[in-house]
Amino acid sequence: MDRLTVQETRFFRDPDAFRLVSDYVLTRPRETLKRRPLEAWSVGCSTGEEPYTLAMLLNESMEGLSLQPLFGVTGSDISKPAIDKAQSGLFSARKLMGMDDAMKARYFRPAERNNVEIIESIRERVCFTRLNVLDLKHAPMHGMNIIFCQNLLIYFRRWRRREIVKRLAERLAPGGLLVLGQGELTDWQPPGLQRVPSEHVLAWIKRQTDEE
Ligand SMILES: C[S@@+](CC[C@H](N)C(=O)[O-])C[C@H]1O[C@@H](n2cnc3c(N)ncnc32)[C@H](O)[C@@H]1O
Repeated sequence: MDRLTVQETRFFRDPDAFRLVSDYVLTRPRETLKRRPLEAWSVGCSTGEEPYTLAMLLNESMEGLSLQPLFGVTGSDISKPAIDKAQSGLFSARKLMGMDDAMKARYFRPAERNNVEIIESIRERVCFTRLNVLDLKHAPMHGMNIIFCQNLLIYFRRWRRREIVKRLAERLAPGGLLVLGQGELTDWQPPGLQRVPSEHVLAWIKRQTDEE
């Protein structure tokens, strides 16, 4: 499986999508953010750069709002070696090339052998699990506020992508945000979701019931 899949990833890979996530958090009702932890899920998280990026962003957003960092991020992937690497929180220093210096200084510490490690306060908010996206019906995740699934659907045929997206939508909380990779789902509107108007990001919000 590891030989068949591409695990390429990097921190802040899709800046437009991450900006959308920040905006989403910053415009949520303050009382909701205070009352309930924000739950984010990176589906097909590879070696962890994406879920750690989400955690850094959520932390920045909460701080910007002068709120306690009440959030959790789950990263899932089919590959055990990728999940093991993600869990270590250790990355080659080269992986941070191009990242904002202030963010590097805030969230990483030097480690042995030209590596860097994610700081503990972020690591403790991110957990990882092995999960095949084709087995979503057995996945324990539910009530997610943010589901981020990029560069994974490309492996599947169109009908399968739709099935996966339907299952992901079921795992969203009302008002939750689903972000896919640009162009990964075309000519189809997932039921129960409303498209976020954006030229650069493929995202939907789950229609509200009476949650907020
Ligand atoms: C190109 S990486 C994307 C990483 C990250 N989401 C990003 O955009 O930077 C694709 C990941 O999908 C994972 N993957 C492939 N098939 C999968 C499946 N059936 N279930 C879960 N993960 C899968 C691979 O192991 C790999 O880590």
